Amino acid sequence: MKRDGFSSKFGMLAAAAGSAIGLGNIWKFPYITGQNGGAAFILVYLCCIALIGLPIMMSEFVLGRKTQANAAGSFKKIESEKPWFLTGHLAVATAFIILSFYAMIAGWVFSYIARSASGKLIAVAPDQLGSYFGNIISSGAEPMFWTFAVLAVTALIVISGVKNGVEKYSKILMPLLVGILVLLMVRSVTLEGASKGLEFLFKPDFSKLTTKGVLEALGHAFYSLSLGMGIILTYGSYVGSKENIFKLALQVTIADTVIALMAGVVIFPAVFAYGLEPAAGPSLIFITLPAVFAEMPFGAVFETLFFLLIGIAAVTSTISLMEVVVAFVTEEFKMTRKKATVLIASALFLLSIPSTLSFGVWSGVTVFGKNFFDLFDFIASNIFLPLGGLFVCIFVGWVWGTKNAVDEITSGGLYKFNYERVYSVIIKFVAPAAIVVIFLNSMGWLTKIVESIKSVSPMFLGSAVVMFVVLVTWAVSFKNRMKRVNG
Ligand code: PHE
Repeated sequence: MKRDGFSSKFGMLAAAAGSAIGLGNIWKFPYITGQNGGAAFILVYLCCIALIGLPIMMSEFVLGRKTQANAAGSFKKIESEKPWFLTGHLAVATAFIILSFYAMIAGWVFSYIARSASGKLIAVAPDQLGSYFGNIISSGAEPMFWTFAVLAVTALIVISGVKNGVEKYSKILMPLLVGILVLLMVRSVTLEGASKGLEFLFKPDFSKLTTKGVLEALGHAFYSLSLGMGIILTYGSYVGSKENIFKLALQVTIADTVIALMAGVVIFPAVFAYGLEPAAGPSLIFITLPAVFAEMPFGAVFETLFFLLIGIAAVTSTISLMEVVVAFVTEEFKMTRKKATVLIASALFLLSIPSTLSFGVWSGVTVFGKNFFDLFDFIASNIFLPLGGLFVCIFVGWVWGTKNAVDEITSGGLYKFNYERVYSVIIKFVAPAAIVVIFLNSMGWLTKIVESIKSVSPMFLGSAVVMFVVLVTWAVSFKNRMKRVNG
């Protein structure tokens, strides 16, 4: 049977960009930018995207396209002897766990779409918005209903296949998203006092930048591009062999970044124009912004459009998360797409329940000191995700080899790719090192390591570094000699 796949250039770009553009761009990026002092943080973020994000995205794309398989099957096809396919299983597990709570947050957004469209949200007094939001997410039944709705919509699209589902709906939803975004941007920058917000966003103040901010930028670059969980890999397997992968990855990366910046341009000028707090954190879109809309002429209309925008961005991401799991189950367990999708969506709903309840009746139930939502988020985002990314780099850099990857990037020499050396160095060394640092930091181990290094005497440290360099040089020359001896 012929494998399903994307049928047009625009379709595959819309699908991949749809995955990358999500709550991370419109919800998280603006608020972490706000917390880390604005423009300086954005500059660092751009470097992370270009230097680490883009090369890993290309690697995932070519792994999928070369093998024409799902996340686990892909590793198996290239290296069948060793258990590298477990990396694929890890990726699928990560996508599954993330989707279980991503759908819940998307459900909050759905609830806000309904409430703003019916005019209820706009009627809430600004000082009541905090408790209004708190009441919704802690109520149990309502967030469950909306999580179910998100999963059902996603499943209906995924069930129709890649070309007739994922691609078809991405092609409709992404232009709609851009249209709404542009409209809201115009509204926001024409408010009186908007320039302060733009200044905040685009005038760098490096004194506000901290090491923590830099690491957060790096981690977010990873998340925002949907890397490390087999998504781009799976979508890559639906891309035709004659498509230019470098160009595609570049387009997705640019689209993701531009949309995140546009979301910033929607949010900050409005927040500043009404004298509100830019560093509110996660509650920025649910509590701060409704207060902005409440003051604005025709606020209810803009409010509804804004939450619709976030809802669309979230659904094109949930589609990609579900597709990773569905592709894995249909191909590895020989199940029909319909059966697999229904089964997976149902399992996801069950898994979302503990997260939902941790904002209400189960808020006191903790494992390792975390409620269920925090626990799932921590396991998936802080442990599985960096590990998945690290394994992809090691696999492409050292097992499959960057030569093979570059051959696939150029479609076997059809396209020119001038950055082979840079790409190889990044995938083999820079990206793995960066990921290890993100990982150590998110586990809270980095500061401990730095402190213990600081406490060691410089003499000792110096000699350790020299010894390490000598050892590596010796190992490399030994390996080269062995190669020559073995012909
Ligand atoms: N990249 C998406 C965003 O920015 C998040 C996401 C992560 C989507 C992982 C799918 C998978 O919101």
